[in-house]
Amino acid sequence: MSDAIISANHISKRFVLGSETIHALNDLSLDIKRSEFVAVMGPSGSGKSTLLHLLGLLDTPDEGSIELEGQATQTLTDDELTYLRRDKLGFIFQTFELIPTLTAKENIMLPAEVAGKRQEAEVRSREIAELLGIAERLNHKPSELSGGQRQRVAIARALINDPALILADEPTGNLDSSTGEEVLELLRKGVIEQGWTVIMVTHDAKAAEYADRIIRLKDGQIESETRTAMNTVNS
Ligand SMILES: Nc1ncnc2c1ncn2[C@@H]1O[C@H](COP(=O)(O)OP(=O)(O)O)[C@@H](O)[C@H]1O
Ligand SMILES: [Mg+2]
Repeated sequence: MSDAIISANHISKRFVLGSETIHALNDLSLDIKRSEFVAVMGPSGSGKSTLLHLLGLLDTPDEGSIELEGQATQTLTDDELTYLRRDKLGFIFQTFELIPTLTAKENIMLPAEVAGKRQEAEVRSREIAELLGIAERLNHKPSELSGGQRQRVAIARALINDPALILADEPTGNLDSSTGEEVLELLRKGVIEQGWTVIMVTHDAKAAEYADRIIRLKDGQIESETRTAMNTVNS
């Protein structure tokens, strides 16, 4: 069995706009291993968000297949995909996407509540908050938190159900550079010490250096792939 957490096998995705067909992804294949940190870069329009959407099981490819922990996803129903997303995937967004009326703690717990795992998540939420340095902030609303603290809350929320894979779309895009570096350090530390697996879309070459591997997209295909100095994964 392959040790990939997620595999994309020859995936293609097209969008039709009037008489024009856009090939957002074009026969792309990719494996992400357990405890690997992968950055995806590339010019605007190269397919980064489309790739993250497909790997996040938020949309389906027109051709090719995606396997999550060895399980084929193309034959699953919408409900089954929803459960798989909820239980196996954690999402981190550029704009944090916290619910303003809920406290940090309530935001973090939300995916666990939805999954009916409140009990086990209680302990886990405290551990994650400690790890991310927001334990003292749990009773605050997002408006009472700094940008860096908000993104840590969002990371904690992504982790609450112990996902197999964390998908991050420009997670430092709304942070100043030193706060962004702190968030990247935390992701890096989680990968090394907690065995998290992360795929992160970024524009920022410095941010990408925190990953083990940088994949550059161009016109919906992998243009190049490099291993960084961080790389500790044996291939
Ligand atoms: N929902 C959509 N409808 C039509 N075209 C889309 C849609 N999503 C993406 N595209 C097109 O697909 C290509 C890749 O987009 P995207 O994955 O968002 O690139 P990136 O994130 O690298 O900027 C672009 O040409 C974009 O305009
Ligand atoms: Mg994009």
